[in-house]
Amino acid sequence: MGNVGAEVVRIITESADDLRSRVGAPLELRGVAVRDLSRPRKIGQELLTDDPAALVAREDVDIVVELMGGIDPARALIRTALENGKSVVTANKALLAEYTGELATAAAEAKVDLYFEAAVAGAIPVIRPLMQSLAGDTVERVAGIVNGTTNFILSAMDETGAGYSETLAEAGRLGYAEADPTADVEGYDAAAKAAILASIAFHSRVTAADVYREGITAVTSDDLVAAKKFDCTIKLLSICERVRDEHGGQRISARVYPALIPLSHPLASVNGAFNAVVVEAENAGRLMFYGQGAGGAPTASAVLGDLVMAARNRVHGGRGPLESTYASLPIAPIDDV
Ligand code: HSE
Repeated sequence: MGNVGAEVVRIITESADDLRSRVGAPLELRGVAVRDLSRPRKIGQELLTDDPAALVAREDVDIVVELMGGIDPARALIRTALENGKSVVTANKALLAEYTGELATAAAEAKVDLYFEAAVAGAIPVIRPLMQSLAGDTVERVAGIVNGTTNFILSAMDETGAGYSETLAEAGRLGYAEADPTADVEGYDAAAKAAILASIAFHSRVTAADVYREGITAVTSDDLVAAKKFDCTIKLLSICERVRDEHGGQRISARVYPALIPLSHPLASVNGAFNAVVVEAENAGRLMFYGQGAGGAPTASAVLGDLVMAARNRVHGGRGPLESTYASLPIAPIDDV
């Protein structure tokens, strides 16, 4: 029942009739696990529990939505859910950046769905297009702005000429930066998302540790002024590329760093807390996805999309999209790119 969870509960409740007709059966909320039962919430007290393991184990639960974040106990809870034949929807990028392979294998063995559209770029559909729409194409590059906090800070520095620390403090006051902004400003959040995108785009196993990472803490207002002189701006980019060598070999490069990009590039005009992802595929050419990459309602929209898909599959049969057979391309070190 955090920002996103509370919005998921709101939509399930308010849109119950629509969701029933889309799924072909009622989508009933069986319970919500919370850390603190005494906090007032907009939900019947009888639905709340502080025992997520007991909730996940319930026989009348078909689908588990995990929005607690972090590796433990989310990993064990998701595994238990999958192994007990329940479908899982999660937005947990830190967990997926390490354990997508393990969790996808558990889902495949149990023949249930594991969906995670909300883990990367909030409301923007990017996981499903890569997994389904482009399943028959060859993705060459996925590059984008997938962290709203740092994009807000860099855009504000560019607009106002203010320094990094001052702008970070303002972002905190406005609710864009978290109390501990380390994961965002040091690029860990963007690196986790790059790992997930690279794994899916290249049918490989890429973890956060494989991603070269630099955050935005060293970017100064002078850097942004200098960038402008070259008709450029600075954006924290997550870049996932298929790197080909002259012998036909292929490797993956995944990297996150503040990049100088020309003002004419579509990503240069993505400002504020927005996200955008550009995908380049051999046959599709260039595709661009843009929208709200964070926030309760936008992220809940992606969760609900997954939830409806998983629920439909439970009602009508079927699964998907299935995990690809991993080709496991090697990772190219940053110095080789
Ligand atoms: N902290 C993340 C961001 C939230 O700023 O983009 C969404 O994953």
